[in-house]
Amino acid sequence: MSGDAPAIDALSRIEQGLTALGDRFRQSFAAATSEPALRAEQAKLLGKKGDLTAVLALLRDVPAADKPRAGALVNAFKTEVEKEFDACLRALGEAALQAELTARPFDLTLPGRLSLGRGHPHPVLAVREELLAIFRDLGFQSAPGPEIELEENNFTKLAFPPDHPATDMQDSFWLRPSVLLRTHTSNVQVREMMALAERVKAGESPRLAIVSAGAVYRRDDDLTHSPMFHQIEGFLVDERVSMAELKGVLGAFAERLYGPGTPVRLRPSYFPFVEPGAEVDVGCVFCNPNDGSRAACRVCKGTGWLEIAGCGMVHPDVFRHTGLDPDKVTGFAFGMGIERIAMLRYGIPNIRLLFENDPRFLAQF
Ligand code: PHE
Repeated sequence: MSGDAPAIDALSRIEQGLTALGDRFRQSFAAATSEPALRAEQAKLLGKKGDLTAVLALLRDVPAADKPRAGALVNAFKTEVEKEFDACLRALGEAALQAELTARPFDLTLPGRLSLGRGHPHPVLAVREELLAIFRDLGFQSAPGPEIELEENNFTKLAFPPDHPATDMQDSFWLRPSVLLRTHTSNVQVREMMALAERVKAGESPRLAIVSAGAVYRRDDDLTHSPMFHQIEGFLVDERVSMAELKGVLGAFAERLYGPGTPVRLRPSYFPFVEPGAEVDVGCVFCNPNDGSRAACRVCKGTGWLEIAGCGMVHPDVFRHTGLDPDKVTGFAFGMGIERIAMLRYGIPNIRLLFENDPRFLAQF
């Protein structure tokens, strides 16, 4: 400082400065409407380049005798700021809480903003339910069956000899000796007929009409075969069942699935557990013999027929193996692939499409 005495001494200037700052910070703290805004105001005041720093620069000019007094003023000011800051922070918190409590309540039932779209049954499941519903409608009761099965129920009791080419032909997934993933739903025939045999022993009449659907497994893998696929099996046991009833049921089924007038034909075939056995064909629903489209039909290859199932009259040995008397009971059975029905219906060229779960494919159903 120059020799001239300052108009006002340094201590008084500090006092004045602090008073002025005091008025300002109270106003700016009170005006802050959020915690970040409040903290910004606090920084403006106390920060390195803040307003207080300018006032503190005056301390240099304070004579030694006045220094304790100047220090005490500054400390009192800082305490004041701190108190005010805490009070404003608390007030902001309370205001925020009040606002939340008095705001319109949050409606948990509002739909979310992200639309995932609604799902729908997989085409295999949809077809399976449709087929089951038709047979339930025709009087068949649905029953479950295990996918892991004893060789006995999958092959032996169904009259497959131990080294019958069919066991080989079906080329199965064995889990350990005599346990495998079932190769067809015909295991349910065995289980249900054994249960029926028990009921017959208890005096009930030998009567049964069952339908069962589920996954089956074979070492097959090409455009129309997958190692895992689904079958639906139906069978009926009673005292005097003939092939006429079998054909009647299949005809009623075909009409319900493909429309009135859909013809059914049985072609002789072989399965060890039926005699006689047949393949079931339905009239091709994709072409018409009258408009010339048949010859060019790629689905039935111009034959006019689509093979959809295997069937036959329950072999007497199956009755014997399951504890029923083949002299007293008769029955028929049929089995069909669910993917085949779905592929025919939707014109799906490759069975793998059904199991890859590509949403671009599945969204088309
Ligand atoms: N289980 C036979 C198969 O997979 C189908 C069938 C069932 C045939 C019932 C006749 C009777 O291939």
